[in-house]
Amino acid sequence: MDMFVVRGGRPLRGRVTVSGAKNAALPIMAAALVANGTTVLRGIPDLVDVTTLSSVLRSLGMNVERKADGALVLTTSDDQRCLADYELVRRMRASVCVLGPLLGRRGRACVSLPGGCNIGHRPIDLHLKGLRALGAQITIDRGYVFARADRLVGADIYLGGSFGSTVTGTCNVLCAAIFAEGVTTISAAACEPEVVDLGRFLNAMGARIEGLGTPHLRIEGGHELNAVEHTIIPDRIEAATLMIAGAMAGGRLQVDGLDPSHLSAVIDALRTMGVGIEITGRTATVVAPERLRSLDITALPYPGIPTDVQAQFTALLSMAEGISVVTDKIFPDRFMHIPELMRMGANVRREGASSIIGGIGTLTGACVMASDLRASAALLLAALAADGESVIRRVYHLDRGYEQLEQKLNQVGADIVRVDDLPETMPVSLQLSDEELRPLAIDSSDSPPPPKFLKRPTKSAPVT
Ligand code: EPU
Repeated sequence: MDMFVVRGGRPLRGRVTVSGAKNAALPIMAAALVANGTTVLRGIPDLVDVTTLSSVLRSLGMNVERKADGALVLTTSDDQRCLADYELVRRMRASVCVLGPLLGRRGRACVSLPGGCNIGHRPIDLHLKGLRALGAQITIDRGYVFARADRLVGADIYLGGSFGSTVTGTCNVLCAAIFAEGVTTISAAACEPEVVDLGRFLNAMGARIEGLGTPHLRIEGGHELNAVEHTIIPDRIEAATLMIAGAMAGGRLQVDGLDPSHLSAVIDALRTMGVGIEITGRTATVVAPERLRSLDITALPYPGIPTDVQAQFTALLSMAEGISVVTDKIFPDRFMHIPELMRMGANVRREGASSIIGGIGTLTGACVMASDLRASAALLLAALAADGESVIRRVYHLDRGYEQLEQKLNQVGADIVRVDDLPETMPVSLQLSDEELRPLAIDSSDSPPPPKFLKRPTKSAPVT
């Protein structure tokens, strides 16, 4: 298992380019199941989650190939396979995105029900409600969703739940509704740019979806769907993560290839905190201020602050002057990063769906553990800004959703080394010395023998 050794306190200067959006890529790849012929997708990031979904699609009889120019080419077959197995789905819950396309195209689907998740309770009741409204018969048996429909019929569907709408649920219902006889309307549809990207992809194939980007969608079903070429939108979460990195580490960072219209709430929050942000076309230039101001933020459905940057904002606000309150209205339990940030000196208290942060100016390096994708990003940003060295364990979470993040950051001045998670690779600076323990009257010989700390690998060590 890999971990990062990060030497903090180095300003970021230069240009980084944002990759294609993971959360647009996954439902669009799944939606390629509905097309006749060969779909060509550009801008699909090279991520573990993309590899996992490619395996799911292959297991459903689809040919998936990455070409030398980076394009992902997906060819449907007449295959009638419809099983998305537990072994694949358990690795990535977004595999559930094949449910709507399979039901629409093949008339049946058997998809493992996604299980627990580190960011909180994530049911799929709204997905199933929408599909049932279109006429699907759905049962849950031995951990699988069995869905069947000899014909789907257009319906009026309300897709809102206690926490707002559902992003992948809207994608699933859209992919089934384009096969339904007559007209379907969806109210409280998710408005996220990733859903709009999927809708545009389906419309280019021949579907008739109106209202994309609003909570009211109108779908005229039953049109022929022919495969197309499509370019995925830039990853707004990666863009926001990089902008926050610039604000935390200091320096002047240019983030290229983003769509600023997808980032209004993030840009506004950063500017309110005192971060200099200049937008020119598809580039944001981020200039870190001398002092960051505190701010209350709430993660909300689009166009609000995304829940996927809540952890990164918490890391940033822990360095601001004053008290900040961060609330997550989408995943009210998504706070696994807090105890780890506290190991780096952050002063944070959890209150229900909020965290109350007393800014401390500077974080200090420590050994921390990543619990999920965005928590890993928050810890990495904290480590970049911290005094001293940090170790971040379980960075496989990061590899699921950020394309070459450590290489991108190293190119602009960061010092991140990926190494095997072995005691021998721990930096000397994180070891407590006998001199430090003596004033506390702790005899280190009473404790179990510490791991053998050796010198940290140099930056030229091979990156695995
Ligand atoms: N919800 C229900 N019932 C449902 C579906 C969702 O109650 O049937 C609740 C969820 O528990 C949550 C809220 O509704 O409280 C929103 O969940 P949503 O369904 O929108 O989330 P998702 O589609 O499973 C996508 C992203 C997540 C992102 C959320 C929210 C993908 C592949 N995943 O998940 O991304 O956090 O939308 O914006 O698009 C990430 O990239 O790190 C990530 C977790």
